[in-house]
Amino acid sequence: MSNPSEAELIHMFKGIPFTTRSSPELLKSLDTFDAREDDVLLVSYPKSGTHWLAGVITKLYNTQVTLTSPIEFGDISKLEELNKLSSKRIIPTHLDYNMLPPNFKNKKCKMIYISRNPKDTAVSMYHYYRDNPNLPTVDTWTAFFDLFLKGDVVCGSWFDHFLSWEEHENDKNILFLFYEDMKKDLPKIVKEISLFLGLNVTDNDIQDICKKSSFSEMKSDTEKENSDPSHTVCALTSNRKLIFRKGTVGDWKNHFTPKQNRRFEEIFNEKMKLSK
Ligand code: A3P
Repeated sequence: MSNPSEAELIHMFKGIPFTTRSSPELLKSLDTFDAREDDVLLVSYPKSGTHWLAGVITKLYNTQVTLTSPIEFGDISKLEELNKLSSKRIIPTHLDYNMLPPNFKNKKCKMIYISRNPKDTAVSMYHYYRDNPNLPTVDTWTAFFDLFLKGDVVCGSWFDHFLSWEEHENDKNILFLFYEDMKKDLPKIVKEISLFLGLNVTDNDIQDICKKSSFSEMKSDTEKENSDPSHTVCALTSNRKLIFRKGTVGDWKNHFTPKQNRRFEEIFNEKMKLSK
């Protein structure tokens, strides 16, 4: 069987490329989504550490919570499915701020935005494109590098995504986190998340959560499981085994040529000149 064509895998919605796993009808209906005050949103550009953060957050609760699949993943039946859940919902999403259902904003739901050095994000996404049958084929790193800088990849431009959320960094209901900080001092970040979510956790709990959320633990847990679609928090795959690749900071240095690095820096400085 031949590989599906790009047109079969990708469609544009409001100028942003989505995979066909996010149906246009669902995307159109997101504006009508009925949020609940106690929903927690877990927001990221793909490949920024979403599963890691989801792993930490679900372990922080000792009451029943449901980690759903991403809000933009699926067809029109998705909203009904989420409506039916009776427990507290932790809802992942790769949507940029402007596309987020307005109800989450009006109800001031808690949102956690995780970001990562875009150079490492680009490299992680490149490998994901290569391994994931739901994404178009890319032949070389050089070709992918150009697509990433142009924002011609699923979920659009990293820069636009980050800037759309950064504009709201002072909103009290949004917590900003960085992958690199989690790598540096996970207990500190877990504490920060627990305070933000208003959860009471002891230092022992935090140590335990950090142990269970290490890259090696999470990877081996996934390898033991049968692949269950409801276990992925990425709208681009239901195969969790594709998620845990290397889990390091600075892998970009093994991929970027000095020329690519200069070009990336130039574009980064230009696009991010108004960013803090
Ligand atoms: P790499 O491809 O660089 O290894 P997302 O969950 O948003 O799809 O992000 C996936 C990236 O997060 C992958 O990066 C993956 O290895 C990394 N990751 C997942 N769990 C991790 C963990 N427990 N510790 C560190 N990195 C982790």
